[in-house]
Amino acid sequence: MLKGKHLLEPMDFSVEELDEIFDLAERIIEDPQKYKHVCDGKLLATLFFEPSTRTRLSFEAAMLRLGGQVLGFSEASSSSIAKGESIADTVRTVAAYADIIVMRHPKEGAPRIGSGFSDIPLVNAGDGGHQHPTQTLTDLLTIRYTKQSFNNLTIGVCGDLKFGRTVHSLIKAMSRYPGNRFCLISPEELVIPEYVRKEVLQKNNITFREVRRLEDAIADLDVLYMTRVQRERFFNEEDYIRLKDSYILDADKMKLAKEDMIVLHPLPRVNEIAVEVDQDSRALYFKQARYGMYVRMALMMKLLGADEGGVN
Ligand code: NCD
Repeated sequence: MLKGKHLLEPMDFSVEELDEIFDLAERIIEDPQKYKHVCDGKLLATLFFEPSTRTRLSFEAAMLRLGGQVLGFSEASSSSIAKGESIADTVRTVAAYADIIVMRHPKEGAPRIGSGFSDIPLVNAGDGGHQHPTQTLTDLLTIRYTKQSFNNLTIGVCGDLKFGRTVHSLIKAMSRYPGNRFCLISPEELVIPEYVRKEVLQKNNITFREVRRLEDAIADLDVLYMTRVQRERFFNEEDYIRLKDSYILDADKMKLAKEDMIVLHPLPRVNEIAVEVDQDSRALYFKQARYGMYVRMALMMKLLGADEGGVN
């Protein structure tokens, strides 16, 4: 039963609960019209303390397409946080106005703290360099559509594995399914955090290898997950400039990959995928963004206890 729950990190939901969300998302994709009033009268509050295009707009589009309405702010400076209000007080207040809260925050753990003060579902839309569970729902739905299974896949994650929260959440989520292997492709300075290596990969006996060159790994992969170097989390600009173009996926590198490898990217893309790759049928990142809206429709319906007949 997902009604009333918070979503703070990928492991908050069981594999069965995730399947319920994906099944519903697929039903919505088949016939979106059928769902246009199921959240009539419901209000989504988006509390974005950090910039976002896709995540905020896809949540807003999702709620509007379900018949609900949205309110919120997209930068901390336009909220009472600028006056020194605590997260606890902001969440408590907004929970009195809305039916569901989506929160993005630059500090790791902020949505978890907020959820302790919310009697309505609160969804983490990205907390610093930590986790981003609804991007993972998006990634998993895209994998399910194309690979028909979450098992026995060789998944390459490439780029900023240190600060990339989408990567941390994806590895956690995919570690639960049998037979998956990871190839971690990053510069030395941007390797995966110790807690992911120890508490997720090693603890679950997952096979993984760490490589520096994309060319050395791409031929083995079923899924290639590209990421941007997370400029906003660097302490100095020089390091960012040195590392920002570590990997550029182009048509030549795609020639080394399997015919059915898929390329995912949470977006925004900076330089890490050459525009020429967009024409390749294996490049799914824009389709992935669309799935993101549908999976958020399914997620919010579940958390609000709505089904095809409306909110129960
Ligand atoms: C990601 C994020 O915010 O972590 N973007 C997104 O939600 N689609 C990835 C990124 O910013 O690089």
